[in-house]
Amino acid sequence: MKLPSLLRFLSLVLLFGAPFSGHAIADLANGKKIDEQKCYACHAKKTGFGNGDMIYTRSDGKVKNLENLKSMVARCNAELRLELFPEDEADVTAFLSKQFYKFK
Ligand code: HEC
Repeated sequence: MKLPSLLRFLSLVLLFGAPFSGHAIADLANGKKIDEQKCYACHAKKTGFGNGDMIYTRSDGKVKNLENLKSMVARCNAELRLELFPEDEADVTAFLSKQFYKFK
């Protein structure tokens, strides 16, 4: 009884563990691509500056820490039905944090 369940466990780890292990560290290039493709244009329009980066660096920004950032990314994703996968959301959050907010 013990051995088959161990084998099943191991095959599950191999099946599902391998594809996700690449995402243990955020993929910043993927995050940048998502920002450019899905986020930049709307932010450029909404701020009226014609620059989609400025929403992240505006002085009256809503994001003060990493938790705020995560929830804003989640809010934009959910409200706008951008349908990002959780790992894409994590990548774009990591990219914005490193590029603009510089949270530690
Ligand atoms: C259809 C328009 C639209 C799209 C697409 C969009 N956003 Fe936003 N986003 C907004 C608006 C509007 C605000 C300002 C909300 C406010 O001030 O309450 C905002 C604010 C933000 C902020 C907070 C900025 C700050 O420092 O105050 C973050 C972070 C953010 N968006 C992330 C994203 C990410 C990541 C994506 C793409 C995956 C995205 N948004 C796509 C409209 C959009």
